Amino acid sequence: MRELLRSLPALAGTPLTFDPGAAPDDPLDLFTDWFAAAVDAGAPEPHAATLATADADGRPSARVLILKDVGPDGFAFATDARSAKAADLAANPRAALGFWWPAVVRQVRVTGAARHLGAEASAADYLARSPASRAAAAGVRPGEPLGSLDELRDAMTAARARVDSDPGFVLPSWQAWLVVPDEVEFWQGSADRAHVRLVYRRDDTGWTHRLVWP
Ligand SMILES: Cc1cc2nc3c(=O)[nH]c(=O)nc-3n(C[C@H](O)[C@H](O)[C@H](O)COP(=O)(O)O)c2cc1C
Repeated sequence: MRELLRSLPALAGTPLTFDPGAAPDDPLDLFTDWFAAAVDAGAPEPHAATLATADADGRPSARVLILKDVGPDGFAFATDARSAKAADLAANPRAALGFWWPAVVRQVRVTGAARHLGAEASAADYLARSPASRAAAAGVRPGEPLGSLDELRDAMTAARARVDSDPGFVLPSWQAWLVVPDEVEFWQGSADRAHVRLVYRRDDTGWTHRLVWP
């Protein structure tokens, strides 16, 4: 492994031009620009982000999920209330999101408060999903021990029948969440390793941003 790991290239994409002096005041605007650039460059699944949470004892946990929206208030995702991440957020409502777009050698890091968006937004997110996705969510018991893969397939088949017969069904445990950022870092990698880090921080007066050393 040691040799294999050391033989693999990193930061092998094509960096984009980034002028931090021309960065907008609001990091959500810069995120929108960078996201569009990642899409244009063909970055695979650019809306996949790593969500980090910690439980009440500070024990961290990270997993990949899909970003569902970005707006002036923050970054939205959806999950099941029975999941470990939802339990973490109920106990400790702070989270971090990490995006890595190798095609353009860009990373974005978001930290902030996590806010449950409530029943209406959660139902809207659930109903906007494909029948297969709704059934996949409705058919599982996140994190519980599973006896066999046949058991999983049977439960999903039953859930699909339920979703198809009742298109208005909303999984009661489905939750939409928002990460309300108080810090956002934009990291533009560079072939010469002079990586550019621009960090936005929010205080009572609004956003400020500054360069930091890589
Ligand atoms: C590409 C990708 C997208 C995913 N999207 C979601 C998602 O939107 N919501 C979600 O709860 N889990 C999603 N998952 C599954 C999570 O990574 C994770 O396995 C699951 O939510 C259980 O995590 P937890 O036990 O830490 O709560 C996704 C996984 C991958 C690899």
